[in-house]
Amino acid sequence: MVSIRKYEEKDYEGVCYTCLHSEDDDDITEEFAEFVLNTFCRYYIDNEPENCFVVDDDGQAVGYIICAENFDEFKKIYDEEYFTRSISHGESRIEWASEAYKLHEKYKDTYPAHLHIDILPQYQRMGLGGKLVSALSDHLAAKGIKGVMLTTGTKNVTANNFYRKYGFEEIEIYDTDIAFGKKLV
Ligand SMILES: CC(C)(COP(=O)(O)OP(=O)(O)OC[C@H]1O[C@@H](n2cnc3c(N)ncnc32)[C@H](O)[C@@H]1OP(=O)(O)O)[C@@H](O)C(=O)NCCC(=O)NCCS
Repeated sequence: MVSIRKYEEKDYEGVCYTCLHSEDDDDITEEFAEFVLNTFCRYYIDNEPENCFVVDDDGQAVGYIICAENFDEFKKIYDEEYFTRSISHGESRIEWASEAYKLHEKYKDTYPAHLHIDILPQYQRMGLGGKLVSALSDHLAAKGIKGVMLTTGTKNVTANNFYRKYGFEEIEIYDTDIAFGKKLV
């Protein structure tokens, strides 16, 4: 049975797998996988598991929404422990990692929290992403957190439609990135 629940330690591998395979990218290199996990995934499940939810299918995590509730707190730990690992992957990755959270920093006063969401292909477009957004929004609102944001690619039509459908407003387009935000309280 498929359901939404809080992240648990046993979900670590399932979340990492989903992070790397939500877009059918089966031929990614080990080096690229490490970069993606260090830049977009590990901080949240290592440091803020209480702010993460998963799609569970029979005990297996097949989708997730992961979140940092306060940008400044995130940035301190991220820069020390994860960004340093990301940029060890070579010149070509440094710019990407450096730019990844620029818009989040710019809008942190209105949207202190930020998220990432991914679901394995065979579970997409069944309403599960919407349920993850609701679970996280209710959880953050109950904690008094006033807004949550994310960035995605301007060309990611699926994600752009998805965020608009579930109440996110476009904040800014910067180069090939688009930032969306949702006020919570
Ligand atoms: C984006 C994602 C999390 C959405 O989750 P989901 O469970 O598939 O979405 P839901 O079923 O809750 O919502 C469906 C809505 O999303 C959008 N959407 C989903 N798939 C779409 C597609 N193939 N084309 C266009 N819009 C799509 C539509 O607005 C759709 O509403 P509709 O069915 O009424 O048209 C999921 O599709 C995913 O993981 N995609 C790959 C990775 C990704 O892009 N992650 C976000 C990176 S920022």
